[in-house]
Amino acid sequence: MTQSKSQTGLHVAIIMDGNGRWATQRGLPRVAGHRAGVSAVRRAVEHAPDLGIRVLTLYAFSSDNWARPPQEVQSIFWIIRAFLRLECERLRQQGARLEVIGRRDRIPSPLLREIERTECATANGHTLNLRIAIDYSARTAIAQAAADAFAAIPPHESITADKLRNIVTQGLSSESGAVDLLIRTGGEQRLSDFLLWETAYAELVFTHRMWPDFDESDLARAVGEFNHRERRFGAIPNLPLEPSCHLPDNAQ
Ligand code: IPE
Ligand code: IPE
Ligand code: MG
Repeated sequence: MTQSKSQTGLHVAIIMDGNGRWATQRGLPRVAGHRAGVSAVRRAVEHAPDLGIRVLTLYAFSSDNWARPPQEVQSIFWIIRAFLRLECERLRQQGARLEVIGRRDRIPSPLLREIERTECATANGHTLNLRIAIDYSARTAIAQAAADAFAAIPPHESITADKLRNIVTQGLSSESGAVDLLIRTGGEQRLSDFLLWETAYAELVFTHRMWPDFDESDLARAVGEFNHRERRFGAIPNLPLEPSCHLPDNAQ
């Protein structure tokens, strides 16, 4: 099946990169970049539904980001917690449903409480599914989904690769679906362990814009670029009817 755009609304995922460099370029501490990045999150959330985005997955903190200095890690968690506390009511009014993906067992409890409170308060939102990835690793998520799948298959049933693939797909993206468009800001062109399974056929857009500067026109431009791409999913679109092909005998 080929399609130029999703019929039910887009799943857009963003690797929000470049906060540290944005701050350093201005002679500010890195944490100032993380703080400035919050306004960019607000802008993206506000304008996403108008651009046909149904699911927005934002990479906020990777499992590998634990390798950063503890003060920076602490500041990032503090900033996310403040964002949730300040924005919860606004998200609810906008019809956004917040869902945090990633490991929860290492998240400091004040942030965890705020996450649970916001998820609960916005649970009925239908305009936008806002997913924030915190302590997230795609490899860990895939391994976990595979482990859950193994556990779900009755002991006497055979485990086939196809069966496992279906269950893992279901486990990873049953509601949010596959990613249509992946955007990375900050100029790097890599995935950094983000949504490796769900981006199998995502269109990729890389921009040099640092995340704190990313605004609604950048988001609209990325969606516009997506709309001009031809998605093929391995097939041949608009295949013209060819005369039946007669292979020479020795070619069979
Ligand atoms: C992305 O910005 C935010 C996180 C990874 C938490 P960075 O902090 O990676 O910014 P750069 O890449 O160093 O500029
Ligand atoms: C990816 O950015 C993680 C987030 C944006 C949260 P990084 O800055 O951590 O990625 P690398 O280290 O440049 O690959
Ligand atoms: Mg970075």
